[in-house]
Amino acid sequence: MSGLFDSFTLKQITLRNRIAASPMCQYQAKDGLITDWHLPHYAALGRGGVSLVVVEATAVSPEGRITPGDLGLWSDAHTEGAAAIANAVFHATGRRIRSLPITLEKVNSRRA
Ligand SMILES: Cc1cc2nc3c(=O)[nH]c(=O)nc-3n(C[C@H](O)[C@H](O)[C@H](O)COP(=O)(O)O)c2cc1C
Repeated sequence: MSGLFDSFTLKQITLRNRIAASPMCQYQAKDGLITDWHLPHYAALGRGGVSLVVVEATAVSPEGRITPGDLGLWSDAHTEGAAAIANAVFHATGRRIRSLPITLEKVNSRRA
């Protein structure tokens, strides 16, 4: 039987344990961009020892946000914000993408 701290391989990705950070909206973005909240928040998740970080719901357009505080991904500045989150986690943990994959949840709610 597999234990919580046993590694897990799915296709090309091997996670070093069975603990992942689920996507959790922080409602702290401004115009879809990261704020001072996001970098320490995600760095802390990484430091907690998870093997996978899934960044909160991130909208592909302003209209695709679930709430006005959601992250977005519709300009170069938004892409830079996503990269800054990954870099903050890597810096905080000393890990790189191979040993601590980071992804984000792309959403398009079109609630408007
Ligand atoms: C504050 C908060 C924000 C959340 N934001 C998202 C989100 O952005 N995207 C999503 O798919 N789920 C979101 N969820 C749901 C969680 O990712 C997770 O599926 C849920 O908490 C159930 O987790 P569990 O199965 O480990 O109990 C959120 C949950 C919480 C508590």
